Amino acid sequence: MTSMNVDADINVIGGGGINEKPRLYKPNNDNSINSDGDKGDYFGSSIWNPSKNVSHMLHAIVGIDRYPNYLNRLNDLSDIDSLEEALEARLSDVRRQRSEIIQRRAGMKQLVRRYISNERVELYAEIDNNDFDCSELWRDHPLLSPPTTWDELRNKEVLLDQAFKVAFRSIASTRNMRQTKSNKQMDVMPTVEDIINGNAQVQLDPSLLEDYMNQEMFDVYSFPLFTNEVRSSYDFLSLIIEYLLRSIDARKSCFQFCDLLRQTLVELSTLAKSDEFAHLQLGRRPIDLDTIGLGWITDLMFYMFIQPMTFHLFAKTEQLVVDDDKTVLESAAPILLDWRQGYVAGYSSNPNESKGAQRQLLVPHTDDSEVTLNCCLGDAFEGGSVEFYGLRGTPEEGQLIGKVDRPNVGTAIIHSGRHLHAVSDVLSGDRYALIIWSRSWGKLRANTCPCCWLNRRHDLSCICNKRWN
Ligand SMILES: [Fe+2]
Ligand SMILES: [Zn+2]
Repeated sequence: MTSMNVDADINVIGGGGINEKPRLYKPNNDNSINSDGDKGDYFGSSIWNPSKNVSHMLHAIVGIDRYPNYLNRLNDLSDIDSLEEALEARLSDVRRQRSEIIQRRAGMKQLVRRYISNERVELYAEIDNNDFDCSELWRDHPLLSPPTTWDELRNKEVLLDQAFKVAFRSIASTRNMRQTKSNKQMDVMPTVEDIINGNAQVQLDPSLLEDYMNQEMFDVYSFPLFTNEVRSSYDFLSLIIEYLLRSIDARKSCFQFCDLLRQTLVELSTLAKSDEFAHLQLGRRPIDLDTIGLGWITDLMFYMFIQPMTFHLFAKTEQLVVDDDKTVLESAAPILLDWRQGYVAGYSSNPNESKGAQRQLLVPHTDDSEVTLNCCLGDAFEGGSVEFYGLRGTPEEGQLIGKVDRPNVGTAIIHSGRHLHAVSDVLSGDRYALIIWSRSWGKLRANTCPCCWLNRRHDLSCICNKRWN
């Protein structure tokens, strides 16, 4: 694909735009003023063009924030007009996206309701602009309702034994705090519900992690996570009975969690092809677990594994702890990441939106995340390795430093989001992955502009850092 307008191409399968464009890792030597090489405007009537140059707009925004009467520095009123125009255009993007999101989430809720109840629901009969949360719809589902207790988590066979044990043993043996209503901290074992709700700060025992995790290459680790074997326990029978009683497709009860999640996404994508849901274009882009009401899976992974692992693996390399930040260093379980998004991406030798598989490969890119978890959900496939090309802003940037071939189903990879990575061609079959992006809005991103952030310039000299000037 050639260079394109990201917005105009938003409906292309796979999302179009940025992810389809090959990256230039090395700075190019093009000294032209605009990235498209068009020097015409530079020598034209006005050099100042915040619509064309994001940098001009950033200068204006920072200037207004820092100096009184900043706009007085512009040459004439027409320069202020062009700033106003540029900001209006951004604002209208915000408003357009907002209304699209409302429409889409309302539609998604109807789709999930249809999927679960298998009944014809009246479309848009009750659009409530403030209520798109469809997690309630899964409440009675025997496997995909959020587990509340440790027993339930084990019986649902979400986690592989080893993953369950590392979490359970660490949490049982360390002081994991539970917030009480009076806001006092109690020294009790948090429930799984506490963890999913973010009410307990989990610490994982580093000596357990050492056996549990495998370093694949510099800054990239893997660990077994979701069940990937056919259920065989006593609970298997009771689940089947439950399925039969509720007359939900009993076929599913013999699936492991990877299959269950993957299959659910594929079925939702297929159902979304019917006329009434076609406008949702579900399956054209990776499917966000929050929008289909399964955000508890993202939360469980985030609070139980990503957060605490990040403290051991990425606090230094990602500079999530600032050297003199005593409040962070003295806390037993510092909160280094405070935002997460989880979605399922599909790759296939034969990409097809009705099975939720958007791409055949993904060019080298960085994620908009501090730490990314990538868990292979299967099914059978060949190719589709995850290749790593070095951290952005380091000498290794752009060089192939290693790859994770044929990741095991149920095994997760965890890496820095700013580590360039790619997915090689899927040669046969379908390959799905649960991806969770996590960020530090409260610390790292509160003190760093997007450019410094992306290029890993964490030297307190960014204009967004409170210490600047
Ligand atoms: Fe990625
Ligand atoms: Zn900066």
